[in-house]
Amino acid sequence: MSEPIIAQNFPYLIDVEKGKTYYWCACGKSANQPFCDGSHSGSKFVPEKFVTDQNKKVIFCGCKQSKKGAICDGSHNKL
Ligand code: FES
Ligand code: FES
Repeated sequence: MSEPIIAQNFPYLIDVEKGKTYYWCACGKSANQPFCDGSHSGSKFVPEKFVTDQNKKVIFCGCKQSKKGAICDGSHNKL
């Protein structure tokens, strides 16, 4: 696979916890979207590490086309 799979063509709104480490799925194959479940194994894709210093809501990219990686940049609107 050379292009990521579009997990969904809109973002995921997720409550994240301060200090916790998350791994965003870049390949789109994970069954645990928007996070990595190891399904990228054997492909060129690797998950993106995400850590924050506060409890907050984060808009993670579901289409895997964002120029900001894990964070939705609105690119899904052009799909
Ligand atoms: Fe991918 Fe918004 S869901 S850019
Ligand atoms: Fe997609 Fe790991 S399953 S990056």
